[in-house]
Amino acid sequence: MKKIGNEYYLMHKNIPVCLMEVSEDGRLGSCRRNEAQAEHFPLGGRMNDMKFHDWWKDRAIPKTRNGAKSALQKLGYESTNSALVDNLALSLSDCYWIKPRGEDLSWEDVNLFTNDFVDTFGELTINKDHVIDLRKKTRFQCAASQGELQKKWCIDEAGKRYMVKGNYGSSYQQSLNEIFATALHRQQGFDNYTEYILTTVDVEGEVEGIGCMSYDFCSENLECISAWELLQTTKFKQNESLYYPLKRVCMSLGISDDEFTRFMDYEIMTDYLISNTDRHMNNISIVRNPDTLEILGFAPIYDSGNSMFYNIPYLDLEHVKLSSIKTHSFIDKESKLLSYVQDRNVVDIEKAIMSFDIYEKDLYERQIRIPRLKQLYEQKLMKLEAFQKGRNIWKDV
Ligand SMILES: Nc1ncnc2c1ncn2[C@@H]1O[C@H](COP(=O)(O)OP(=O)(O)OP(=O)(O)O)[C@@H](O)[C@H]1O
Ligand SMILES: [Mg+2]
Repeated sequence: MKKIGNEYYLMHKNIPVCLMEVSEDGRLGSCRRNEAQAEHFPLGGRMNDMKFHDWWKDRAIPKTRNGAKSALQKLGYESTNSALVDNLALSLSDCYWIKPRGEDLSWEDVNLFTNDFVDTFGELTINKDHVIDLRKKTRFQCAASQGELQKKWCIDEAGKRYMVKGNYGSSYQQSLNEIFATALHRQQGFDNYTEYILTTVDVEGEVEGIGCMSYDFCSENLECISAWELLQTTKFKQNESLYYPLKRVCMSLGISDDEFTRFMDYEIMTDYLISNTDRHMNNISIVRNPDTLEILGFAPIYDSGNSMFYNIPYLDLEHVKLSSIKTHSFIDKESKLLSYVQDRNVVDIEKAIMSFDIYEKDLYERQIRIPRLKQLYEQKLMKLEAFQKGRNIWKDV
């Protein structure tokens, strides 16, 4: 076979799971699996080599990430794939990485959970022109991560890792929505959500804007696997709802019917309330212990920013038809998602009355949206109440 690149071991902490060829620009060539450690091989790549190639491709920062093109240029990378290889494919969401064959490196030497790093790539996507030149200060310049919004990983004074996220376009609503969703989950007393906190980010020029941050819910002892990755272990039909295939996989991994249903009931109903239209399969994850491979349940609810009509212009807000909202989730009709709910009472309507003060932090000209957002949310609350009383509201026209 023609050699296309250098040889690397794909490592799960200190366990080599396969030997693979990777070109400098990050393309995967041949791969020889370590059958003795098959259990540690990434779930998403189990089924066949094509799936494994996809798993690898998905690991790089998407090239469509806001700000990625200019950040790559500034760092001298050809592509987000070459950045991935140069940074040993390390991430702060799981314990996979690549080790050049013949190099004496261990997980303890390289992992981002305990070794210092500066996410220069992230810094460049978040703060654009106004950035301190940190190149060559540390060995690692970026962590693998998913998602379209500009984001960076940082370390606080206590050594805790956190992610800062920006917004798309010229409003801060996505970040404010994360705070709004956090408040809803807190009021509900739900015990499995990611807390988002407001922070400042530089936007164009030297202007200080609003972003949000969340602490890493993963660690060396807890790694994340997305629902999308889980779905790669099973066969499902195009156009089929993804709910049941996902449930099947989760149950085969040891998540109980009860746990699955309770989590989904809650997530579907709260997403409905905030009109989150982006609960796609990378925005749901499970967590496991990377050493014992024991599945520990669902990752805390994260990424609720694409909600509350964030992308609908002010003048169109009064024409929103709540019964026909489209979403990127198990199926595409938002209200129909409610048909999966088994226990309609896992959300407490009385504890879902929200303050909208947070939206006063948006750009001045966006604040006229607040009364309208409030009205739409109240209509959603009433619909959810009717649903709890037994009305199958997805049948409404
Ligand atoms: N606090 C966290 N701890 C650990 N991993 C996280 C955390 N926040 C996000 N992630 C990981 O990073 C990925 C990207 O983050 P997030 O979904 O918030 O970004 P996004 O750009 O809004 O995504 P999208 O493209 O879905 O809109 C997530 O899918 C998840 O795997
Ligand atoms: Mg996301």
